[in-house]
Amino acid sequence: MADSKMKSPDTFWHQPIITRESRERQNGHRGAIIWFTGLSASGKSTLAHAVEHKLHERGVRTIVLDGDNVRHGLCGDLGFSDEDRSENIRRIGQVSKLFLEAGVIVLTAFISPFRIDRSRVRMMVDDPRDFIEIYCKCSIDVCESRDIKGLYKRARKGEIPDFTGISSPYEIPENANLAVDTSRLSVEECVEQVIRTLQDCGVLPIEI
Ligand code: ADX
Repeated sequence: MADSKMKSPDTFWHQPIITRESRERQNGHRGAIIWFTGLSASGKSTLAHAVEHKLHERGVRTIVLDGDNVRHGLCGDLGFSDEDRSENIRRIGQVSKLFLEAGVIVLTAFISPFRIDRSRVRMMVDDPRDFIEIYCKCSIDVCESRDIKGLYKRARKGEIPDFTGISSPYEIPENANLAVDTSRLSVEECVEQVIRTLQDCGVLPIEI
């Protein structure tokens, strides 16, 4: 929320004693926000969880924030209008930043269809290594043919309004750190590409 919209102006920032740097030292790695974006059924959650699995096995502290799950709680009051999607991403950005301060690698799996919302989250962090954007590249035809949740079929019948890729837009990232082709590569190959990107970007040490 922009400061101008703050409804609690008479509050004061309390500086923590334990800094992000000391938490990262204890964890043995940097914190980071790994932001997966793409159409529904493009593989965001699958890939985020598979990367988390690999990192967890190597002793890295992680958490996955997943669109469907978060909408059962923190964002349960939001729908799929453009405004609600923006608010969804704003809240996730703020939660991710808290985990970043805890020195954790946060993997987020949200459609996050609007460039402006994704770039607002990017702008919330100081260091380019803190926000890594991964585009799960998969055509609408492939996503629709997967239709694991049966939502595309219902959206085509007009039962679900504002459905991304059908009746609501998806803005492809222009400067993603990685565009991973989830329609052609196996999950393992995609995981490898993500891990390599995290190493290249200086989030993870090379030997992980
Ligand atoms: S976002 O656009 O606000 O980033 P989010 O990732 O939280 O979306 O939620 C997307 C998930 O909600 C989809 O994977 C799908 O399971 C479900 N969903 C329900 N309605 C819609 C809709 N109208 N458009 C897209 N996804 C929807």
